[in-house]
Amino acid sequence: MRLLVCGGAGFIGSTFARQRLREHGDEVTVLDKLTYAGREESLQDLVGDPGFRFIRGAIEDPDAVAGAIDAARPDAIVNFAAETHVDRSIAEPDAFVATHALGTYVLLEAARAHRGTSRSGGRAGEHGLRYVQVSTDEVYGSIEQGTFTEESPLAPSSPYSATKAGADLLVQSYFHTYRLPALICRGSNNYGPYQYPEKLIPLMILNALHGDSLPVYGDGMQVRNWIHSTDFAAAIGHVLEHGREGEVYNAGGPDEEANMTVVRRIVELTGASDSQIEHVTDRPGHDRRYSLSSEKVRALGWSPRVRFSEGLEQTVAWYRDNRWWWEPIRSGEYRAYYERQYGRALS
Ligand code: NAD
Ligand code: DAU
Repeated sequence: MRLLVCGGAGFIGSTFARQRLREHGDEVTVLDKLTYAGREESLQDLVGDPGFRFIRGAIEDPDAVAGAIDAARPDAIVNFAAETHVDRSIAEPDAFVATHALGTYVLLEAARAHRGTSRSGGRAGEHGLRYVQVSTDEVYGSIEQGTFTEESPLAPSSPYSATKAGADLLVQSYFHTYRLPALICRGSNNYGPYQYPEKLIPLMILNALHGDSLPVYGDGMQVRNWIHSTDFAAAIGHVLEHGREGEVYNAGGPDEEANMTVVRRIVELTGASDSQIEHVTDRPGHDRRYSLSSEKVRALGWSPRVRFSEGLEQTVAWYRDNRWWWEPIRSGEYRAYYERQYGRALS
């Protein structure tokens, strides 16, 4: 297949691009704006592969999107492009609205205009160019007990999740109104290599390795459903190839853990000290627990392979061994962000 992967210079998009190119023989064109979270370094092992192409551009820019479609002549568009950090959405929601609402709209319009032009006639579907929207369990809001299914109502809590939910509704409207062959895949909390260190796991790993404090929001008893990024990327590929048009598929990880358990395990794995753990002011509107049922995507033949205990150990090892990837981040824009967010400097 020929794929246009929007937001492919980010954490999960780069994992997906690598997986599709190396394990499925797809041709991959990445379209990415290169925001603070987008890093060409995360794709550097793919550069030079004849099946790979990188284009810098924003999904809310119709000319950039049209140019990327002309270059890629895709059978499918997979949209990872997003602002993804809940804390940033609370401080500055503007970019979240622009990328999730306007950006998704521009992509859907482009997909609609090019639906009949894919080279293979849409091997994965019947109607030509397929569209897969990558989404999140956060659109369902928080759940104290039980798990969310695809039928659960949308009840987002933050500007991040509300704008992601809005994008999902727009995607569904393009299926219902225009019969655009669109699908949605909603994932739970991802972890693994190449994740920007504003998110819990890489932030705690790097702070632990540097002797900095480990800032736990509130009581640290919030629960997340962890999925390794290679497993989520595989679920998205599965939905792309085998999913039914117009449908939503949840992809949750095999393990749920309280934040404090995750942080204590990182302390052990890095040889840091418990005294580095510091309880700080809670995130406003903080969701207490996420939990996803993945029965529907499992019925398509997907299941997660990486258990959290083993995946976390590998992730700590990856950050320990790949200074080249994170060192420029810790000395750049991230330092100013960190000071604003936590009211203290990094070492
Ligand atoms: P990320 O922040 O690491 O990467 C986002 C990428 O999108 C970056 O490369 C960035 O440059 C690019 N981008 C942002 N705005 C853009 C725009 N307007 N035009 C083009 N490119 C743009 O994010 P991630 O964690 O890899 O998440 C990818 C997708 O998966 C998102 O849609 C997110 O909502 C979803 N998701 C993430 C998780 C998670 O735990 N990280 C879980 C479930 C779903
Ligand atoms: O559930 C999927 C979502 O997971 C994705 O859609 C989002 O893009 C992704 O950012 C993630 O959202 P969370 O808010 O769950 O992830 P984050 O890593 O920011 O926080 C995980 C938990 O850890 C959450 O309960 C808040 C807490 N936390 C986070 C940070 C950054 C802390 O206690 N301290 C911190 O410094």
